[in-house]
Amino acid sequence: MSVNRIVGASSDTATKIPVIIDCDPGHDDAIALMLAFGCGRLDVLGVTTVAGNTVGENAYRNALAVLSLIGADVPVARGADAPILRPLYTSRDVHGESGLDGLPVPPGLKGGGLTAVEFLSETLRSSVTKITLVPTGPLTNIAILFLAFPDVKEKIERVVLMGGVAGQGNVTPSAEFNIFADPEAARIVFHSGVPITMIGLDATHKALVYPNEVEEMRRIGRVGAVAAGLMDFYSRAYKARGFEGTPIHDALAVAAVFDEGVVKTQYARVDIETRGEFTAGRTVVDFRGAAGREPNARVAVDVDRDRFMHLLMTAISAL
Ligand code: RIB
Ligand code: CA
Repeated sequence: MSVNRIVGASSDTATKIPVIIDCDPGHDDAIALMLAFGCGRLDVLGVTTVAGNTVGENAYRNALAVLSLIGADVPVARGADAPILRPLYTSRDVHGESGLDGLPVPPGLKGGGLTAVEFLSETLRSSVTKITLVPTGPLTNIAILFLAFPDVKEKIERVVLMGGVAGQGNVTPSAEFNIFADPEAARIVFHSGVPITMIGLDATHKALVYPNEVEEMRRIGRVGAVAAGLMDFYSRAYKARGFEGTPIHDALAVAAVFDEGVVKTQYARVDIETRGEFTAGRTVVDFRGAAGREPNARVAVDVDRDRFMHLLMTAISAL
């Protein structure tokens, strides 16, 4: 099993946090991968992919393309092509037909032979240290992992996920995309007993990246130019929705893994609505214990945007 090889990256994995990133690239997933490999603080053991922003085949191919572009040599394993119970709901309007419109896809990319759940279970079981899982798409793979191999939960340090919202959703007024796409999977994960940090829209919508910062990104170098090209496409959907900047949702989740101070979190009870006509996919966040149910997640309620931007720009510069 190869490990990540970035030119110039520190070979010292002793101080690095072991992680597996489960993603649905997706423009912000792609930039999250750049942060993960460029920050020098994470030992990325592998990347698994899941259908979400785009169909499963595209998400897998896009992950391979991004990792090839940044020179990351890690296992990539393809996961679920559909949610556990529902039909696949993609966000083509935001990420384009390919799921990563604006990215030149290098030819002839090949991934490993394991499925995502096989890779996750084998890596967790064989690891001598606990691993942090970083899901940045629908939680389908993680839910299947917990159902099929519940023993691996004890090998998980925590799950730091991008998803959910205590306030307004982005797919419906109630629901954020990753949870909306597979609410049944989210319910399984949030009820799993594994420590969860939820990086939702309450934080990511306060960490917008502005056009002048995209231009700064473009000037950073080869990877910066790729990231800016992705932002050129990705920002259109947010501009059309009246945003003055663009949230790189998934990158904030990655930053929160290695820099606790980039977000402010509050312990809360989070339950997932799976049935409501208007509320399916809602993360029902109870900060005050009103329902008398045990807290099960740390929920991000605020962000240090400048700190996040510094981490992101520094990481892209290192690639
Ligand atoms: O709601 C934002 C989330 O949905 C991000 O992970 C984005 O990539 C999409 O998957
Ligand atoms: Ca995503």
